[in-house]
Amino acid sequence: MPQGAITRGTTNTNRLRRSDRWLATWPGLRRVSSAHAVDLGYGASSATTRELTARLSKVRPDVHVWGIEIDPVRVAAAQKELAQITPPVTNVTFAYGGFEVPVPHGIAPVVIRAFNVLRQYDETEVPAAWAAMLARLDPEGVLIDGTCDEIGRVSTWVALTPEGPQSLSLSLRLNDLETPLIAAERLPKVLIHRNVPGEPVHAFLAALDSAWRASAPLSTFGAVQRWQAAVQSLATSGWPIVGGRSRWRLGEITVRWDAVAPLSAS
Ligand SMILES: C[S@@+](CC[C@H](N)C(=O)[O-])C[C@H]1O[C@@H](n2cnc3c(N)ncnc32)[C@H](O)[C@@H]1O
Repeated sequence: MPQGAITRGTTNTNRLRRSDRWLATWPGLRRVSSAHAVDLGYGASSATTRELTARLSKVRPDVHVWGIEIDPVRVAAAQKELAQITPPVTNVTFAYGGFEVPVPHGIAPVVIRAFNVLRQYDETEVPAAWAAMLARLDPEGVLIDGTCDEIGRVSTWVALTPEGPQSLSLSLRLNDLETPLIAAERLPKVLIHRNVPGEPVHAFLAALDSAWRASAPLSTFGAVQRWQAAVQSLATSGWPIVGGRSRWRLGEITVRWDAVAPLSAS
């Protein structure tokens, strides 16, 4: 039996562009001898699986992407759709399965993307789901457990390696952004109930919001300048920000996991 349960299949073309862009920079993707990626829980349409394939192929033209779904009807539909494409697509496979990531024996994916999947589970189910997926990952691989809005303007994800969670990223469309607190309602399941006073992720979002407000005068130079100043201010005040200005200019901020991890299981 696949691990997990069928949930809503809501998806949308191009809504995972922010996290895909980040995944394409993962160092292990370039280093592994044979590149396999898994899109776990692709939903009612396989469009985002094919987009992931196109984006990763730019870095690893030989990448093979496995779209895994726990709803057999969605698997059959994706397989049928794929079979109708000409010329035939040979670098994507759709298969039935769950958090056990049933790629053929011997394949250790360097990327596992589980986006908008765990958000429909209970917080207590997250550790076991992470452990199951991490057990299949290449030693140089990354798993992202993320959440985004309908059209991908607000996106957040936890990045994990086989050693466990490493970072939290927020990626926001900066034009017309009022406050980065908008990310609070799209946090991954492991954090969404922890955005309360006393929890580190609450302090992080509050610090980011405060820095964003303090940087308002820079709006005259554009939202990117304002965001970069806000992120720089967090880094200067001691938040362990990962990644440099080239990431910030995309509306991203990545912070080390130990700075935002939940204090304890509820
Ligand atoms: C909201 S859709 C997400 C679609 C796409 N990833 C996106 O973000 O646009 C969630 C999908 O995950 C599937 N799903 C839920 N639990 C799963 C599991 N354990 N293994 C594989 N797929 C799962 C559901 O059946 C559903 O189709």
